[in-house]
Amino acid sequence: KKELQVAIDGPASAGKSTVAKKIARRFAYIYCDTGAMYRTVTLKAMQTGVALDDAQALAKMLAKTDITFKPGDPEQLVFLDGQEVTMAIRQPDVTNNVSTVAAQGTVRADLTERQRVIADAGGIVMDGRDIGTSVLPHAEVKIFLVASVEERAQRRFKDNAEKGIHTPIDVLRDEIETRDHKDSTRAISPLTQAADAVRLDTTSLSIDEVVDKISVIIEQKR
Ligand code: C5P
Repeated sequence: KKELQVAIDGPASAGKSTVAKKIARRFAYIYCDTGAMYRTVTLKAMQTGVALDDAQALAKMLAKTDITFKPGDPEQLVFLDGQEVTMAIRQPDVTNNVSTVAAQGTVRADLTERQRVIADAGGIVMDGRDIGTSVLPHAEVKIFLVASVEERAQRRFKDNAEKGIHTPIDVLRDEIETRDHKDSTRAISPLTQAADAVRLDTTSLSIDEVVDKISVIIEQKR
């Protein structure tokens, strides 16, 4: 059996990381959450007072930044320069600033390189916005996950409640739409479906149904 590259892209809160984690477990592949990397860079810039749109300052900061993942249950743990930031990178202030940082070409070049190194280690499931179009353009399996904005706001609301974050649902809907707009309209590797990606609308599907559909596609290719 061949070890594949599986790219899962899509807009905010479409269920990418939940699905990607399960796929990785099922096939014993590495899982890489690229959104967590952009979030970690954003957190560090905010903590150290680096302007979020200063491409050069961010590049300098990144040269001295270590981002690592460690297995954890239920979530993979994220470390920034040796400190655990798994929860900190999910806070609303990071979420609402990450698109500005992710639009900087220096940041994208640096993180794309790191993501390719991670993918070189073997079978990989990577989720993000530009995996199929830019990071792993030769991925054998490309999925573009979408869901209605209403459904995504509701999912985010439930996720947040479990983390003790209580943002009203219409605020979440606005935040999701704003972030998708920024991510889709930036100049460098914007969020867009790769020509050879399979589009999956998850609005009325359960997580397991989505995982099963993607698994069938993977089985056909390996
Ligand atoms: O997936 P998640 O919501 O954690 O991603 C956070 C943000 O990171 C996105 O809104 C986007 O601005 C950025 N991102 C990106 N490219 C990726 C993954 C995430 O620009 N491959």
